[in-house]
Amino acid sequence: MCGIVGYIGQKPATPILLDGLARLEYRGYDSAGVAVLAAKRSLEVHKVAGRVRDVMATLPAGFEGADDILSRCVRGHYMGIGHTRWATHGGPSDDNAHPHLSQDRRVAVVHNGIIDNAADLRKALIGDGVTFRSETDTEVLAHLVARAYADTLEDAVLEALAQVEGTYGLAVIDARHPDRIVVARNGSPIILGIGENEMHVASDVAALVRYTTQVVHLDDGELASVTLDGFRTFTWGARSTSKETVTVDWSYDDYDRGAYEHFMIKEIHEQPESVRRCIRGRVDERFHTAHLGGLNLDAREARGIRRIKILGCGSAYYAGQFGAQFIEEVARIPADAEPASEFRYRNPVVEPDTLYVAVSQSGETYDTLTAVQELKRKGGRVIGLVNVVGSSIARACDGGIYLHAGPEVAVASTKALTNMSVGFSLLGVHLGRIRDLSPANGRRLVDGLQALPNQIDAILENGQAITDAAQWVSKAQSIFFVGRVRGYPVAREGAQKLKEISYLHAEAYQTSELKHGPLALISPDVPTVAIVPDDELFDRNLTALHEISARSGPMLVITHEGVDVGDLAATTIKVPRNEPELDPILMTVPLQMLAYRVSVALGRDIDKPRNLAKSVTVE
Ligand code: AGP
Repeated sequence: MCGIVGYIGQKPATPILLDGLARLEYRGYDSAGVAVLAAKRSLEVHKVAGRVRDVMATLPAGFEGADDILSRCVRGHYMGIGHTRWATHGGPSDDNAHPHLSQDRRVAVVHNGIIDNAADLRKALIGDGVTFRSETDTEVLAHLVARAYADTLEDAVLEALAQVEGTYGLAVIDARHPDRIVVARNGSPIILGIGENEMHVASDVAALVRYTTQVVHLDDGELASVTLDGFRTFTWGARSTSKETVTVDWSYDDYDRGAYEHFMIKEIHEQPESVRRCIRGRVDERFHTAHLGGLNLDAREARGIRRIKILGCGSAYYAGQFGAQFIEEVARIPADAEPASEFRYRNPVVEPDTLYVAVSQSGETYDTLTAVQELKRKGGRVIGLVNVVGSSIARACDGGIYLHAGPEVAVASTKALTNMSVGFSLLGVHLGRIRDLSPANGRRLVDGLQALPNQIDAILENGQAITDAAQWVSKAQSIFFVGRVRGYPVAREGAQKLKEISYLHAEAYQTSELKHGPLALISPDVPTVAIVPDDELFDRNLTALHEISARSGPMLVITHEGVDVGDLAATTIKVPRNEPELDPILMTVPLQMLAYRVSVALGRDIDKPRNLAKSVTVE
């Protein structure tokens, strides 16, 4: 999805902007560009449909990134803005790439979000003699700012925004006001990075962490005027606001692949450590429970909860299904999960004694964010399970649990999802111990959680069987994933991961549902990946394996150490035993590896699969 960067400071701007844009590549995009303040108070723009490296190729010969021959020092400083675009209004093209310029090339704008009344504004501007160079909704902003009657850039942006309906995170520069960048936020993130004698702007901390760890998050309806000396924030009504500076604990190295071939496999291997981080400081050995200070929910309030509703999208929703199953089983509170994208449109009944839980890696998923906003508007209490500190969803919630997975770059989520399940487990134990979960069971689960990192390590060390299985699975066109009760969210996540990065058709079913229809599709060409934990449903699962085998369906069975399924399976992967409620977390790991290895075998673009973006910030 779209990304924004901006810089004002003593160093040449172009290399910093391009480096920032390269850090945002993981979000997915189709075009990129920069606009920098050049000599004689003009703006120089380079933008193309393509990658950030294609923008570099358009720069004058001799540009090597170290030396800025584009932006010139104007009045002792450099300044510019940049953008990666994910097409919405108008296909990917050089003209549609941001930044967009006003007709006199004095004003440049980069924008994330959608201007809903762009068509009307465009018509009116054309009627006034404005010529448009792109098909985008964003270009109207550049013309509106340039045509404003205001003397200051801040007032010109306010005047333009007063005419605009829609969502935006945007940054504006004006060659007539070369000492500032004006940024605004309404529904799409804008973060300020405070450096030494320099200021940065970005839509994602990934673009900032190389330069500073001190950041300020703008709120919706807020603007900032960013200068060499710092920044000033204000509202649509021009009222000044005060902001808190937050320290980011992610580093530039976290965005480096190191020796790994892909970010996805790096992130899979980071799971033991990221699970440790998620648990650290949250286990109470004395009362066999979990400490979750950020929930902002005291014991009396927790006892009053009658229902839990979990909301997330895609894999986060499947992690929510695990969470609902775990919480209901352990804390005996009725719980369910629903895609946030559906929930927000069905006018849901919001009950005062329901605890709503929004779950998101990025904290910026538009569907989840708007579901939270809808809930808050109706007076619901919402907590968040979120990975990105200070993200929109985290800030919109009444409290929550940060996942501490570290930055996740690969589009296919792995370590953040595992930490979502760990986060739900901590929440379940916490709520359970406030209610009827016995100290013995609390201890059993807390010990199980603490055993997870080493057990994940063990699964990753024994990856050869999965690598071998990937060879035969990758030859199929269509693959079933089956699991039941605790195993069903595992199957759904396994199918999701495989289809996302391998582009093979994969479908998940409850094992119990096979005989009600899908069994008709079983054949030697359609492999089944079966989740078969050694639990109270083992015998029933085994019956289903026989049914599949009787129809010559090849099987990959994920089960426990010590279990023998005979010759039913072509490949059997055995994972260590934890507690039955926590087993799904371990059983998901081989499926991440399977998706990865199948996609390697098929030569896919694993970290940036086609048509997908890391963070889905549009409807
Ligand atoms: C996961 O592998 C997917 N890329 C996708 O389903 C993702 O989980 C979903 O878009 C939600 O993202 P979020 O966790 O950032 O809200």
